[in-house]
Parts: sequence; C-alpha cells; structure tokens
Amino acid sequence: MNLYDVYPLFDVNIIKGDGCRVWDDKGVEYLDLYGGHAVISIGHAHPKYVEMISNQVATLGFYSNSVINTLQQRVAEKLGRISGYEDYNLFFINSGAEANENALKLSSFKNGKHRVIAFKKAFHGRTSLAVEVTDNPKIIAPINANGHTTYVAMGDIDAVRAEIEKGDVTAVIIEGIQGVGGVQIPSELFLQQLQQLCNETGTTLILDEIQSGCGRSGKFFAHQWAGIKPDIITQAKGIGNGFPVGVVLISPKFEAVYGELGTTFGGNHLACAAVEAVIDVMVAENLLDNVNKVGSYLLAELKRINGIKEVRGRGLMIGIEFDTPIKDIRRKLLFEEHVFTGVSGTNTIRLLPPLTLTMAQAGQFIERLRRVLFAN
Ligand SMILES: Cc1ncc(COP(=O)(O)O)c(C=O)c1O
Repeated sequence: MNLYDVYPLFDVNIIKGDGCRVWDDKGVEYLDLYGGHAVISIGHAHPKYVEMISNQVATLGFYSNSVINTLQQRVAEKLGRISGYEDYNLFFINSGAEANENALKLSSFKNGKHRVIAFKKAFHGRTSLAVEVTDNPKIIAPINANGHTTYVAMGDIDAVRAEIEKGDVTAVIIEGIQGVGGVQIPSELFLQQLQQLCNETGTTLILDEIQSGCGRSGKFFAHQWAGIKPDIITQAKGIGNGFPVGVVLISPKFEAVYGELGTTFGGNHLACAAVEAVIDVMVAENLLDNVNKVGSYLLAELKRINGIKEVRGRGLMIGIEFDTPIKDIRRKLLFEEHVFTGVSGTNTIRLLPPLTLTMAQAGQFIERLRRVLFAN
C-alpha cells in the first residue's frame, strides 16, 4: 500500500528530538524554529513528559468516558489555574478541528442559530464545520459548502454588527493570532468591541487559540492581551506537546446536557498525562517569562535586518514577511543552515519554536538567517 499523497515533503527524515533540536537519520542536527507546526511547547522528549506518559501507559493507557477518570478533573483544575479560567468547564477532544467543531455545535445548541461570522484568511481546521468557517475555498469540498459562514475583514466591527443584526448569527469565531493567515494580530480594541457586541446580542464569541494558545504569545492565551473573556476557547497543538489533544473551555453560561457532546478518545488517560506534564513544566520552568524574553529579543533583532518587509508577532509566534517568495530562503535555512521554519502563504516565514527556546538558540537563528540573506 502507498501513502495517500497529500503532503509536499521536504526530503528529510527526522528521527530524534531533544528540546529545540532535532536530528535526521543521517545524524544531522537541526535547530527547530517550527516546533512541528506549533505543536512542541515544552520541548522534544522533555524528561518530565517522557516520565509521566511512560508511567501512565504502564499503568492504564485507556478506558472509556463511561467511567470516572480523576485525571481529567486534575487536568481541568490545573488548566483552569494556569489559564485564569477556573470558573469555565472543560471538554476534551483529540484535535484542533474537532475542538472548533464542538465549540460551534455548542453555540448552535444554545442559541438555536446557524450562521457564523469568520474572518478573511481565517484557518480553523478541516472537518465539516471547522473547514466551513475557514477562508480557503480550495479545501472546502462541495459537501462542506453549506452557506453557514460569512467572512468579514478583520477589524471591521461595523460589518460584524450589520451581519449580527440580521438575526441568524450563532457565533463569531476568531483566532487569537491568525497563523495560516500570516501572523496577523487582531487589535485589542477590535477584540473588546467583538466581546461587547456578542454579549449584547447573545452571540457566542469563540476564540480559536489552537495555535496561539498555551503560552505561545507570552500570555497563556493571546486574547488575554486584550483583557477579554470569550464564551468559548478552543486549544490543541501545544497543550499536548505532540500527543493529540484538543480542549474546549466553556463559559458557565452554558449548561451541560448528557449526551449532547461525546468522544471515544477525548480525555483518555495518556492525553491527560501529556497535558498535565505540559502544564507542570510550564509552571516549573516559568515558560511564559522565557517566551516574553526570547520573543522580544527575536522581534527586535529581526526588525534590524535590512530587506525584510515586515516583522509581526507576539512572544514566540512571529511572521517575517518579504516582498518576494521565501521558498528559496526556507530551503537554504533547512539544507544549508539546518534550521526548521514554518511558512504562511508565499512570502512570510513563520516562527513557532518550542517555548523553551534559549537566548543562545535565538541568536544562532538570527546569525544563520543573516548568512542565508546576505551570503555572497
Ligand atoms: C488556528 C487553528 N485552528 C485550527 C487548526 C486545526 O487543528 P488540527 O490540525 O489539530 O485539526 C489549526 C491547525 O493548524 C490552527 O492553526
């Protein structure tokens, strides 16, 4: 059997990781400024993560959601504490798209409406509702094109208001920081206006923090820079450090109904061990402080480099936009300088390193980027 060929691959076989470094099958070491697409939060093969997952799998890897799982409750308490959302309720699922899927369902169950406001260039995942609120016609199959979504320009509060006034909008969904869309940060004022408008009209405000959450922006959630408290927050990627976990944080305004949501794997014992390890390490190693320190350094250094059109970002979620396509720069970074980076569109390099990136490693990256940009 062959693999279903949907991924254009770099010709590199990564077989080992440690902290912010990975190695290929030929023993070449790479600096990881990509984190496997914002997934590696506390670093590859963190000893605490390895220990907690190993102990758990040796004790009990899985049992179903039909019995008590005290690990889920412990994770809920710790996640509430670290995020500042102690009064919210937690629903576990397995991926980002599924987290958004459930958030949108919850909203529609609550207010009985069916249209969603999403933003231009938004990415929310590839399952049915998640892809329908994603602004990319290429990945929306005809079966997913059900007319549930209206896309509005980011920042245009009047357009959002005009849509909500039509009376059929269940939710507004917005990324804490747009990732696929090019590391675009919604303004604090716009988020505050959205929250107020949603509160006034009984519209659910859903913050997709799947990529920008778990400390990546320098606060636990990126929207916390705006001081808002949305109705539902979704998160995945970094919260499991590689173990597939999605979570939905749900305001106490929502009343749980037996059977309304459900999952086989969500919140399983291994997933709980992974999330608990991530939270424990974030606290023990003060990772938010590290993100702010190393992120500020990177932003400042990048802004000093000539030839870059714009540097955007917060914490360790950084976009470096050029006037021309960056394909060649990325290839050189990978194959000549041994640095993994991400991408948004054609012209923007996206940095999503583990939150444990050191100042020395950030310095190495700047040095290698300069070499690629200015050699010969
Ligand atoms: C903002 C955002 N939402 C949703 C998703 C979908 O997450 P997953 O791939 O885990 O389904 C992603 C993945 O890149 C994302 O960046």
